[in-house]
Amino acid sequence: MVATNDTTVLIFGASGDLTSRKLIPALFRLSQQQYLSVRSPVIGVARRPKSHDEFRTEMREKVQARLGLDKFDAAAWDVFANQLFYQQLDLTDASEYAMLKTSVQAIESQVGAGNDASRIVYLATTPDLIAPAVEGLDVSGMIPPRESKSILRVVVEKPFGRDLKSAQELTLTLSRHLQESQIYRIDHYLGKETVQNILLFRFGNAIFEPLLNRNHVDHIQITVAEELGMEGARGGYYDTSGAMRDVLQNHVLQLLCLIAMDPPSLFQAREIRDEKMKVLQALRPGVSGPIENWAIRAQYTAGLVDGQPTLGYREEDRVNPNSNRETYVAMRVALDNWRWAGVPFFLRTGKRLPKQMTEIAIQFKNPPLNLFSTVECDGDLCDLVETRPNTLILRIQPQEAISLRFSTKRPGMNYQVQPVSMDFEYGAHFTAQLPEAYERLLLDVMRGDSTLFTRSDELEAAWRFVTPVLESWESSSAAPDFYPAATWGPRSADQLISETKACWRAPK
Ligand code: BG6
Repeated sequence: MVATNDTTVLIFGASGDLTSRKLIPALFRLSQQQYLSVRSPVIGVARRPKSHDEFRTEMREKVQARLGLDKFDAAAWDVFANQLFYQQLDLTDASEYAMLKTSVQAIESQVGAGNDASRIVYLATTPDLIAPAVEGLDVSGMIPPRESKSILRVVVEKPFGRDLKSAQELTLTLSRHLQESQIYRIDHYLGKETVQNILLFRFGNAIFEPLLNRNHVDHIQITVAEELGMEGARGGYYDTSGAMRDVLQNHVLQLLCLIAMDPPSLFQAREIRDEKMKVLQALRPGVSGPIENWAIRAQYTAGLVDGQPTLGYREEDRVNPNSNRETYVAMRVALDNWRWAGVPFFLRTGKRLPKQMTEIAIQFKNPPLNLFSTVECDGDLCDLVETRPNTLILRIQPQEAISLRFSTKRPGMNYQVQPVSMDFEYGAHFTAQLPEAYERLLLDVMRGDSTLFTRSDELEAAWRFVTPVLESWESSSAAPDFYPAATWGPRSADQLISETKACWRAPK
């Protein structure tokens, strides 16, 4: 394995949850696998004063607690800790960035990084600190001029705005200081191994792709279901966000792009993102008429999770007791293009659903003639006498898998149709642990590969589609629909899909 070139990683917002929960563990794993050169310092930057050693100890405790003592490799951590540093900085004070630059240079020469080392600034901050941070970097001369050999890449975390207008403003702010090629907008879903496999599965095999179009597909369901509710202090953030901004606008629409896009002419960032962009440009409401006809919002009420009573959303910590914020969204959308015209896409995401499950299910059309429908019904096998449509399921998580459902003859003297499944399970085929999304994405930033990051036009197209829905919900005093915790959402979502004679998948 080859370490990337020397790269200095600066994490702005180093005292936040994301740093200890995702970024440091991912960088530690990259270091263990020798993807992170020992001459690549990782510098946590935050407002509180702290020594390098205090930061190292704090990160070690958190990573160790996360991994468990038995899985924590202390010797490997000691190697990694040598390249871990801390710098105090008030991100809002532009005058402090000159001092940051001097400290970074001193650390780089301490670890022996080459003169042409590249730098990454990871903005793991709240959105209001993004503009001061890029301004400060610019003022201090840390953003190299276009013609320079030095490299600075800036990673931005979601939320990228909260509607079309604020997203455009953010893009403008960033573009005043950075070129688009220096900006890496993270959607961690794109770093998941199984999400990357969607493109390989589609375009690395010849037999599936010819079927993925309006001639053969009845409809497609994309589900991002979560069992969790508002754990920790999440309610405060979530009550200003909701399921649409938190998951549908980004993760779900990215999955839609990957399953619906045309093959790119080259497997490269620009060509892939161009094809995704075409999907977003073709995105339309699934039926005409008012928004309620194709977009449902709902909120969970109290329920029983594993036999234990749980709170309703409005009773959760830091949530407004009268909140109308949606914890569930279901939508019927369409793609107005040659490949998908007339094929409904059903999208849904929600908190406090019966289980965690992210999947894309492609349901094919029924055979043109049901030769077996006249077979006599036989007791408890009544439901087996008709062929069921084929379904191809890409299970993103957990129990990552790809399954194809098809009908077979149930052994016996009659023609009884039995649906069966052909399964490929990652766990059964690959012994290596699947890399964490952030490992892959951080490595890609170091390599300068922006394929798995969202471009500004994609972002705007996604906001352009969901903003009118959000505006309609937020300007209405009507309450959302409700669903008890640990159920698969409101009845209105069932009606949304049943109009096409389909139903949501609800795996056990
Ligand atoms: C995040 C959302 O982007 O994605 C969270 O902010 C959500 O609310 C999470 O829980 C889901 O990601 P994953 O990887 O757990 O499916």
